[in-house]
Amino acid sequence: MKDIFEKLYDRMGPLGMYADDAHGYFAFPKLEGPIGPNMIFRGRERLNWSLNNYLGLANHPEVMKADADASEKFGMAYPMGARMMSGNSNYHEQLEQELADFIKKPEVILLNYGYQGVLSAIDALVDRHDVIVYDAEAHACIIDGVRLHMGKRFVYNHNNIESLQQQLRRATKLVEQTGGGILVITEGVFGMSGSQGKIKEIIALKQTFAFRLLVDDAHGFGTMGSTGAGTTEEQGCTDGVDIYFSTFAKSMAGIGAFIGSDPHVIKFLRYNMRSQIYAKSLPMPMVVGALKRLELMRNCPELKDKLWEIVNALQSGLREAGFNIGITTTPVTPVLLNGTIPEATHLIKDLRENFNIFCSIVVYPVVPRGVIMLRLIPTACHTLEDVAITLKAFISIKSKLDAGEYCQEKLAEFA
Ligand SMILES: Cc1ncc(COP(=O)(O)O)c(C=O)c1O
Repeated sequence: MKDIFEKLYDRMGPLGMYADDAHGYFAFPKLEGPIGPNMIFRGRERLNWSLNNYLGLANHPEVMKADADASEKFGMAYPMGARMMSGNSNYHEQLEQELADFIKKPEVILLNYGYQGVLSAIDALVDRHDVIVYDAEAHACIIDGVRLHMGKRFVYNHNNIESLQQQLRRATKLVEQTGGGILVITEGVFGMSGSQGKIKEIIALKQTFAFRLLVDDAHGFGTMGSTGAGTTEEQGCTDGVDIYFSTFAKSMAGIGAFIGSDPHVIKFLRYNMRSQIYAKSLPMPMVVGALKRLELMRNCPELKDKLWEIVNALQSGLREAGFNIGITTTPVTPVLLNGTIPEATHLIKDLRENFNIFCSIVVYPVVPRGVIMLRLIPTACHTLEDVAITLKAFISIKSKLDAGEYCQEKLAEFA
């Protein structure tokens, strides 16, 4: 017999294998001070492009006050228990109603966390007779929901409608035998590339295939569409999406999430989602705070306008300077460079230590070998001056990378 802990020493996993070198710097960095574009990293202020605080609500004075007042009034414990047992409140129901009105879906169910929510909604919606067809670049919460599924699942190439059609043909054949149905899952905005899911084109396939569509719009809610109601509003296809999901963890700068759908689906989810039935309800300060955030999203369109001013300045500046930022049409801004993982390490250290710029870095296996992806998240609280400083720094690090200055031999310079 083997001690299950034994293998943990030599099998740390795809991220854990870098833990010793990365911890505290590349992984688990501590960003301190008030949330915003200027935060302290290792004792020094850095220009920060790594927070999904798209609308700048995290530090908005009205949000801070609403959170603080609700905490003072209710504490963090209230309501105790799961929603179904003892954790419901008028505030929870009011937030559901206001979200439903905002996203133009008949009903909404609140979720205590987005990740568990998506996973558990998938688990509740399908049984072993059903088939799931999902995008190859789907977020981990979708993948994990699919992993719980007892029936067949088919993955289609990222945003590739032909590949989706192929998989729908296979799925249709299968459900004709099992008597089940098909659930297609995609995202509104893919959080790594910034590309939009082809929701409208997927909905058009309903003419040919029978399926229901779930869209995870974590990055689109608040940032996309004329009112900020998300990627489905942007693409003018709200009605064709059967299950709309988003989280409070990005534009809303909070915790929690929600699903919008038809009343009978929401009723079913309320009584069948294990992550909600067997876990504590969202704490009251998060619910009252979310009502304030939603009010600001509805009443202050200038926040989204400011976000897009920064997005456009940053993305056009990068493109004009010759950077490859892929096919983003959303605030998510990937900068794709060519280099090895050691080069990426030196480049990011240079960027942080000498240019005081903090952004996320993504390397193989998330992106292909030889690609370094820097990921910038613009927000409504960045300034055009922040953009100018960043462009200058990026031009400089790219020319150093191209000149081979981040190669192993140059290690000593950064020691
Ligand atoms: C696409 C997507 N779905 C779901 C989630 C999970 O949301 P939460 O942070 O509320 O658990 C995230 C958050 O990272 C996300 O990016």
